[in-house]
Parts: sequence; structure tokens; C-alpha cells
Amino acid sequence: MKTLVCRLAVAVLSLAAVVAPASAAKVRDPASPTILLTGSNRGVGLALATEYAAQGWNVIATCRTPKKATELKALAAENPKVIIEQLDVTDVRQIEKLAAKYKGVPVDVLFNNAGWLGTPIGKQQLGSFDQALFNEVMNTNVYGPLKLSEAFVANVEASSQKKIIGMTSGLGSLTLMGRMSRFYYYQMSKAAMNMGMRALRNDLMGRGITVALLAPGMVETDMLEDSGYSGQALKPAESAASLYKLVAELTPQDKGVPVNVDGKPIPW
Ligand SMILES: NC(=O)c1ccc[n+]([C@@H]2O[C@H](COP(=O)([O-])OP(=O)(O)OC[C@H]3O[C@@H](n4cnc5c(N)ncnc54)[C@H](OP(=O)(O)O)[C@@H]3O)[C@@H](O)[C@H]2O)c1
Repeated sequence: MKTLVCRLAVAVLSLAAVVAPASAAKVRDPASPTILLTGSNRGVGLALATEYAAQGWNVIATCRTPKKATELKALAAENPKVIIEQLDVTDVRQIEKLAAKYKGVPVDVLFNNAGWLGTPIGKQQLGSFDQALFNEVMNTNVYGPLKLSEAFVANVEASSQKKIIGMTSGLGSLTLMGRMSRFYYYQMSKAAMNMGMRALRNDLMGRGITVALLAPGMVETDMLEDSGYSGQALKPAESAASLYKLVAELTPQDKGVPVNVDGKPIPW
């Protein structure tokens, strides 16, 4: 009889494990605000993860390949409020899985930082257009942020600060582009992301959510190196510290125009 009861208990527990949602994720300190970041393993994203961790936030630091994210893992090892999660922003199933895992967890700031210049650059120049590269750049810089924002709207709405950020670039500006045509897909992707985030802002402002567009400035990262730019640039930590302040100062009255790291608006 005792054995039968034990077997039944094991069966019930196993069934519960199957039926229970995969969502068991918790942030370490529910009393502190929480940021969810994409592309946290290097460049501006790693600097943002470091800055927010230093400011005492819970950081859900996502990246494509956690196994290889050495510096991010070192940050998490020093700071228990940094949780590393795997996320390729072009993979809708991964986005949905992450959203299911964090269901019910308030996210004060959803920072769509991950971005891709699209290399080799030659394949985004007149005479060598390449559809596969175009699609990849657009998926990474436009659809990914939009889909992730949709998937986490309820988390942002449930938070105190309710902010969604799209990481834009002066290269997405018609006014500033001048005679630049070096990065067709990247330039187009940032212009499209601006419009997507602006439309999202219209849809979400009634729910108290602020959707903003921020640019990090010229920053010494792999992307800047890939672009061939060799002028003056900010250190990632400098850019991240200024972005932190800009995000903190955002209010629902924000006009929704793209803003550079120095606080100046970027013309459309
Ligand atoms: N650096 C600048 O001067 C500059 C200027 C204007 C705007 N921005 C914008 O700032 C953001 C950060 O740029 P950065 O300079 O730090 O670039 P970066 O050093 O090249 O880093 C890009 C980050 O995005 C991640 N990423 C790329 N594709 C991804 C995907 N499909 N899913 C998830 N993560 C992905 C990368 O992950 P992996 O390591 O896995 O590739 C990496 O973590 C981008 O949105 C960029 O467009 C940068």
C-alpha cells in the first residue's frame, strides 16, 4: 500500500512538472528596478549591463552565445543581480520562450541594443546588392526589436518605469546622411526601426509606456571598426553612462524624436 501511495505521489509530481509553465524566472531583487538588454556580451550592450549593474539594477542580460560571453559572465559572477539569458533577436521562438519564462516579471526598461552593421559591407553597395544580407540586417535591426517589444509589453506595463528603448543611429537620418551611401541596409534599417518604434509609441502611450529612440554616439566598438570609421569616438563606458542618464530622465511626455547620447535631437 505504502509503495502504491509513493508511486502515485511521484506520478502526480511528474505530471505537475509537465503541466506547470516553464516560467519560474525571478529577478534577484524585486525591490530594485529591472532592465532587459539585448546584445549584452560586447560593445555598448556590455557597457550598459555594467552601468546598470553598478547602479543596483536587476539586469537580464541577453546575448546570442552565453557560452562565449566571457566578460559578461565575469560581470555576472561579481554581481548576482545580473542574470544571463540566451537570445538571438532574429529567432521568434527564442523571443517567445524568453517571454514565457519571464511571464509576470516587471521589466522597467526594455533596451533593444543589439544591432548589426551587415558585413561584408560590399554586399550592401550599388552593383552588389544581396537579398539574404538585406533580410538578415532588417531582421536583426527592425523586426527583432519590434517583436521583442511586443512579447514583453505586459512585463513593461507591470513595472514602475515602463520604458522601451530602440537603439538608433545618426545613419538612419535622411537629414544627416548627406552623400553617404556606404551602408544601404544599415541606414535603411535604422530609419525603419525609428518608424517602427514611433508607431509602437503611438500604440502604447495610452498604457503609460514610454517608447524612445536613443543613439549611443560614435563608440569604440567592433561595429565602428567594421564601418572603417577612424575619427574620434567615445569609450563604451562613457556612452553607457550618458545613455543611463537619458533613460532615467525620460518621461511619458517625451516627444518620441530620436535623441543622441549628448542629449541633442537627431533630425528625421
Ligand atoms: N558603435 C557605434 O558607433 C554606434 C553608433 C550608432 C549606433 N550604434 C548602435 O548601437 C548598438 C550597439 O552597437 P555596438 O557598437 O555595441 O555593436 P557591436 O560591438 O558590433 O555589438 C553588437 C551586439 O549586438 C549583438 N547582436 C547582433 N546580432 C544579434 C542577434 N541577431 N541577436 C542578438 N544579438 C545580436 C552582438 O552579438 P554577437 O556578439 O553574438 O554578434 C553584439 O552583442 C547597435 O544597435 C548599433 O546599431 C552603434
